[in-house]
Amino acid sequence: MARTDKGIPVDQLTPIEAAAELAELAREIAHHDALYHGKDAPEISDADYDALRARNLAIEAAFPDLVRADSPSKRVGAAVSEAFGQITHAKPMLSLDNLFTDQDLTDFVEQVRRFLGTSETPAFTAEPKIDGLSMSLRYVGGRLVSAATRGDGTTGENVTANILTISEIPRTLPADAPETVEVRGEVYMGKADFAALNARMTAEGGKVFANPRNAAAGSLRQLDATVTAKRPLRFFAYAWGEVSRPIAPTQYETVQAFGRWGFKVNPLMVRCGTEADLLAHYRHIEAMRSSLDYDIDGVVYKVDDLALQERLGFRSRSPRWATAHKFPAERATTILRDIEIQVGRTGALTPVARLDSVTVGGVVVSNATLHNEDYIKGIGQDGQPIREGRDLRIGDTVVIQRAGDVIPQIVDVQEDEDRPNRPAYEFPQLCPRCGSHAVREHNEKSGKLDAVRRCTGGLICPAQQVESLKHFVARNALDIEGLGDKQIEFFHALEDPNLWIRTPADIFTLERRESLGLARLANMAGFGATSVRKLFDSINARRAIALHRLIFGLGIRHVGETTAKLLARAYGTWPHFAEAMQAAGDRMSDAWTELNAIDGIGEVVAEAVTDFFAEEHNRAALAALLAEITPEAAEQPVATDSPVAGKTVVFTGSLEKMTRDEAKATAERLGAKVAGSVSKKTDLVVAGPGAGSKLTKASELGIEVIDEDAWLERIKGL
Ligand code: IVH
Repeated sequence: MARTDKGIPVDQLTPIEAAAELAELAREIAHHDALYHGKDAPEISDADYDALRARNLAIEAAFPDLVRADSPSKRVGAAVSEAFGQITHAKPMLSLDNLFTDQDLTDFVEQVRRFLGTSETPAFTAEPKIDGLSMSLRYVGGRLVSAATRGDGTTGENVTANILTISEIPRTLPADAPETVEVRGEVYMGKADFAALNARMTAEGGKVFANPRNAAAGSLRQLDATVTAKRPLRFFAYAWGEVSRPIAPTQYETVQAFGRWGFKVNPLMVRCGTEADLLAHYRHIEAMRSSLDYDIDGVVYKVDDLALQERLGFRSRSPRWATAHKFPAERATTILRDIEIQVGRTGALTPVARLDSVTVGGVVVSNATLHNEDYIKGIGQDGQPIREGRDLRIGDTVVIQRAGDVIPQIVDVQEDEDRPNRPAYEFPQLCPRCGSHAVREHNEKSGKLDAVRRCTGGLICPAQQVESLKHFVARNALDIEGLGDKQIEFFHALEDPNLWIRTPADIFTLERRESLGLARLANMAGFGATSVRKLFDSINARRAIALHRLIFGLGIRHVGETTAKLLARAYGTWPHFAEAMQAAGDRMSDAWTELNAIDGIGEVVAEAVTDFFAEEHNRAALAALLAEITPEAAEQPVATDSPVAGKTVVFTGSLEKMTRDEAKATAERLGAKVAGSVSKKTDLVVAGPGAGSKLTKASELGIEVIDEDAWLERIKGL
């Protein structure tokens, strides 16, 4: 089939010509799709095929009214799905830790050296941190097969159809690329394109985007890819996920290879040999910032040598071999109009500043966090004065600062003539939601008053109930689709016992209760029969739930996602976990010792969890919940073929061939649990010179003890 591209620039096509060409493109692309997918016998090169699709999208973008029902942009191989599907990343997509000061940079470099056990600073790359959305592009056999957003780092959204509309993203890779490769980088929108888009949206009476990042995200997450096609999205490649073979020995060379394959790579990426070079490049990029056509919010440093990256490995959310050095926050001045008290999930009373709206670094700000009552008084965390001790009064002129996506803060208050006449703010002593006493606990260890004032109402406090429920259904917890913050507030406020949700178990009994009562959800505002059915289905889909999600969802103080995973992994099943936590309420028990021996679990967490299980009403709520749901056993370590998988290992004494951190990270990578102290549960003790009481305890308990060399021998080649 011959191509009849007249080569007419899209903006010079008449509507009649455009319609004719779209019809022809639809026929032609369908023909090639059929050959490619059906018969595996393509007639044209990938590049020519890509050109057809790009031309089709360009014409559609210019003539949105002419988009055909059978347009190729509406399907990618198969039919386009209603909503985005999910893609589980072959390798997790991690985030980066942040540095803010020169000293932080020194500490970071020192940490890397210490982990590697060397006094030499390794080479790093330094490059701008692009303010967009991270994306993983998977190529198999040289062809783009899928594109996924970061999502929760493990699973992202399948946005392949939308990504195919971005001309800066190659559809195919040259022959020297590995068979399978996931190229990762940032999708972003240029500043000028952003301004033009907002001007167009304003002219069309549509909503404008707050900043280029939001515009890029909003454009990408369009169910209709033809909308995405009209948005000027771009892409920088800077990282990778799964690769079937190594591309190059260093970060720098790998990214340069991406450049040769047709990706845009950032021209400000350099290799630095010293900390001083890193800092100099940071200053250079900072100075260039306003002249770049895209938003950046800092500089990313990465250890260049991939073998060292491998040794350094990862913490739970971020690599040890990379970090982001953020630019200082932007500031603005406005008036503090009011102070509102929010009551959180754990009863914490958090003051929030209501401000006259002001634009800070391109974002309109009208609220700022005030942390706690001392902060309002001008007292910092360590008891030292902040803002030179000046308190905050309603009506004050304040300086606010915003750094990245962090909630804005009030960093200063201006003295003015009227200030002495304005009364000091009085922090409430009673919970504004339930009227219970709100107290500041005495911290036994530090002997100080806790900075946070808490409502003592527990679950009788409606605010604590609602916030706990929101946490329970949140994405990283039970993740119940269709039951977001708004819906929780709605169900919680209902007066009908057949319809309300006031405890976690209520969520799972809702369908049964609803069918018993007279009132029907389907007749209520905002619901229809279909959405009610969908809600029940998504609730039922979570009756089987990963153990760590349940533990995290309980909202126990100090138990974040990482801790929940540690606990799930250590105890394996819900019955084991629950029994052990109840037994550990006795501080003299083995259960208490074992809980504290889990690496990463300190006394604060151990106390919080056991206190939670010691409360009669929590146990009752759990019993009701467990009658409805079935927690799944925790995933056992992946590397089951390693001889230390599933074993609990303790390192003691000094190690000579690797640092303690490195030893621990390696053991964990091989599926072992690393504990801080020896107990009956310990399987293996690796003892270096100078080992003391742990060694004695191990021999008392008859636990295998080996030295560092024997350990290295055991894990050799893994
Ligand atoms: S490297 C494992 N390089 O920043 C490390 N990230 O805060 C992978 N980002 O999720 C990330 N520019 O979306 C890297 N030059 C750059 C970046 C960059 C922007 C984003 C990325 C990531 C986030 C982490």
